[in-house]
Formats: sequence, structure tokens, C-alpha cells
Amino acid sequence: AFDVELIYSGQTITVQPHQSVLEAAEAAGAMVVASCREGTCGTCDTPVVMGEVDHRDSVLRPAERAQGDRMMICVSRAACSLLSLEL
Ligand code: FES
Repeated sequence: AFDVELIYSGQTITVQPHQSVLEAAEAAGAMVVASCREGTCGTCDTPVVMGEVDHRDSVLRPAERAQGDRMMICVSRAACSLLSLEL
């Protein structure tokens, strides 16, 4: 599990292994948009304020992944203990 800070509400939520960041954010009442929920459409593209991302989507190009300033929250996860997201 890892934590995600939702900067607009100031909440920090925990994402369990069986959950996506998207699901955890939805459960916390965050405004999120999603379509495919499998990392292929790009709808859930979310700016990353802080933290390392474990990219698991097929939307971002390698250079975009390396930049680490956005992520597809339906499938990608944290590669650190706390991610801060513009949500
Ligand atoms: Fe399609 Fe996340 S909802 S990439």
C-alpha cells in the first residue's frame, strides 16, 4: 500500500494493493474522470506534484514516463510511499 495526497481537498488517502489510485480517489470523493480504466485511453491523465510513479499504462511515451509529471491513475501506481497529485 502507499499513500496519495489529493491537493485540492488536502486529504491523504491510502491505496491498497487490490485498488487503483483512481478507485481510492473516487472513494474519497475526489473529482476524477475515467473511461477505459485499463491504461489505454488517456482520460484519467493526472498531474503529479511530487513522488515517483510506477507507470503501467500504454499511453505515455518513454520520455513522458521519465519526466514523471503525470500519470494514468487507473493503472499506474507509486514507486514511493507518498504521491502528491493534482486531484
Ligand atoms: Fe483510460 Fe485511465 S481511464 S487510461
